[in-house]
Amino acid sequence: MARKSFVTFEKAVQILNSGGVVAVPTETVYGLAGLALNDEAVRKIFAVKKRPFFDPLIVHVASMEHVQKVARLDDENPHFSSLVTFLMKTFWPGPLTLILPKQPDLSELVTSGLPTVGVRMPRHELTLRLIEAVGPLAAPSANLFGKTSPTTALHVADEFQDQVPVLDGGPCEMGLESTVVGFENVKGRWTLIVYRPGLITHERLQKALSEADFAVDVIRKESPVAPGHLRHHYMPRIPLVLVTHTELEKYRDVVMKELSLKEWRPFLLALENDAPLVARKLYSNLRQASESGANSIICPIPEHAQGDIWEAILSRLEKAASLDLRPQ
Ligand code: TXA
Ligand code: MG
Repeated sequence: MARKSFVTFEKAVQILNSGGVVAVPTETVYGLAGLALNDEAVRKIFAVKKRPFFDPLIVHVASMEHVQKVARLDDENPHFSSLVTFLMKTFWPGPLTLILPKQPDLSELVTSGLPTVGVRMPRHELTLRLIEAVGPLAAPSANLFGKTSPTTALHVADEFQDQVPVLDGGPCEMGLESTVVGFENVKGRWTLIVYRPGLITHERLQKALSEADFAVDVIRKESPVAPGHLRHHYMPRIPLVLVTHTELEKYRDVVMKELSLKEWRPFLLALENDAPLVARKLYSNLRQASESGANSIICPIPEHAQGDIWEAILSRLEKAASLDLRPQ
């Protein structure tokens, strides 16, 4: 189903080249893209998304030449360069964002004044072609700040009421945002820090590094500098409540009181067993629930929700939730 905001590839190239923004597909979620090297375009991204300027953007690239335009992989530090190059070769194109020292020329608007820049090569044929045509693209997820990320072109059209051009590349294959990792050197030893968990899991990163003989530990940490990891994020239009049991009646009184609801009209968001499938459908399901006529979404977290991909799913649900009734 086409919408009036959908544009062709050629039109997307034209809009981007003239400093405009276009929502583009990736394997994770749709991004709200503008030329990373054009300040006017970057300002537009923040304005359209109503994103505070202190939350840095990810730059999307299609080649190593693009990486060099925005990040610095200098020869002073051969260990760091070989580690970064290994991760790029192993996981790109794919849902892994690397936080690298920024190229001095890259505008601080993109990085919110940080000395580092997040870079990734998305695994979507259309968007890779687009980046090849116009150059590196800065792109946050194509939703209003703090809201649920879009995983179809229709989600984007709805979110911005057809006011933002969208390149339709079908539903996103993975459905959760990329894993964001940074690097720290402690006494000459490199550590990889997972700031935002994703489908390239901690285990996969550790395994790949160990197998390639990199003496690098992978650890999980909330980012001290990236406010994108704020407590509330990914929020659906109606409040989400996390619980343990599937009999929702149990929670009726406490949910109505805590959320000041006048009526009990919950939507049961059940999570299946298959973690990659749950990840792929999570944001669509949250949007559907919001439009179902219910006034709350109640999500029982199943016992099987354990392990690395579930960590990524639960981190989103926890930030999206208004109320968490699970025993702490
Ligand atoms: O899968 C994705 O990563 C999607 C698609 C469109 O590529 N993009 C995305 O962007 O999720 P966004 O802006 O919604 O989330 C980017 C996250 C934010 O939490 C931001 O704070 C963090 O990456 N980030 C960006 N640059 C950073 C930096 N220099 N240091 C630390 N964190 C950074
Ligand atoms: Mg986002």
